[in-house]
Amino acid sequence: MLRIRDLKVSFDNGTHLVPVLHGVDMEVRRGETLGVVGESGCGKSVTWMAVMQLLGKRARIEGEITLGGKNIANLPEKAMTGIRGNRIAMIFQDPSSSLNPVKTIGSQLMETVTLHQGLKGHAARAEAIRLLDKVRIPSADQRMRSWPHELSGGMNQRVMIAMALAGQPELLVADEPTTALDVTIQAQILDLLEELQRDTGMGLVVISHDLGVIAQVCDRVMVMYAGRVVEKAQANRLFNNAAHPYTQGLIGALPDLDGPSSVW
Ligand SMILES: Nc1ncnc2c1ncn2[C@@H]1O[C@H](COP(=O)(O)OP(=O)(O)O)[C@@H](O)[C@H]1O
Ligand SMILES: [Mg+2]
Repeated sequence: MLRIRDLKVSFDNGTHLVPVLHGVDMEVRRGETLGVVGESGCGKSVTWMAVMQLLGKRARIEGEITLGGKNIANLPEKAMTGIRGNRIAMIFQDPSSSLNPVKTIGSQLMETVTLHQGLKGHAARAEAIRLLDKVRIPSADQRMRSWPHELSGGMNQRVMIAMALAGQPELLVADEPTTALDVTIQAQILDLLEELQRDTGMGLVVISHDLGVIAQVCDRVMVMYAGRVVEKAQANRLFNNAAHPYTQGLIGALPDLDGPSSVW
């Protein structure tokens, strides 16, 4: 469904180009959950921000990005607007900074519904409530009047997911969707993403520095290191047969549940 070939990204810092991605290859198949894992700074976010064309003017992007067979790598902004949110949606790590603090949940969600589905008034409101229900927010009707600061981080992340679903995307990219959340809430959000993926049949990309998160939800995994993909594998095989030393290191760094618990 989406294929990235030899993606190279560098940033112009005013005097020279700083390379960040050195030729990334990746693909997401229809309806699958792809995990992208690697340490902080290895290029996970830049890869998907490049796909969405959200990197800004200083980024130099080379390579091929095809969506349903069509190259979208250098689409003009106007054409990209039709893809962003409608065919590919992205959610980010920190829901509190992605939501507008001075607008209610309901008005933000209705705006998104209007933008992507052209619904207005009562119809937009009904669709907003349906989406809040879908992401399992209790008393969706009342929650429409809430402000972002009145909701927990987990609830705000659910609202962000509801917004991402408003455009009925074929592909949802979740960039560190649980990193800012408590562990128990993390698991609930991952369950929700998995369930939505199953219901809608959309492709799902989960980006995380945490191999535990990836293992919980993904079919296939891409391991990135220093601007490259160093290993691709089925999630269940990766843990037993990691080929690349870096992946072995990542797996080795997982806490041993049978070992002594650390106290600090
Ligand atoms: N807008 C930018 N300008 C310059 N360098 C950037 C920019 N965005 C990211 N980088 C650099 O690109 C590298 C990869 O970043 P990123 O993809 O955000 O890492 P992560 O894998 O943690 O998501 C990092 O070294 C980061 O400093
Ligand atoms: Mg990142």
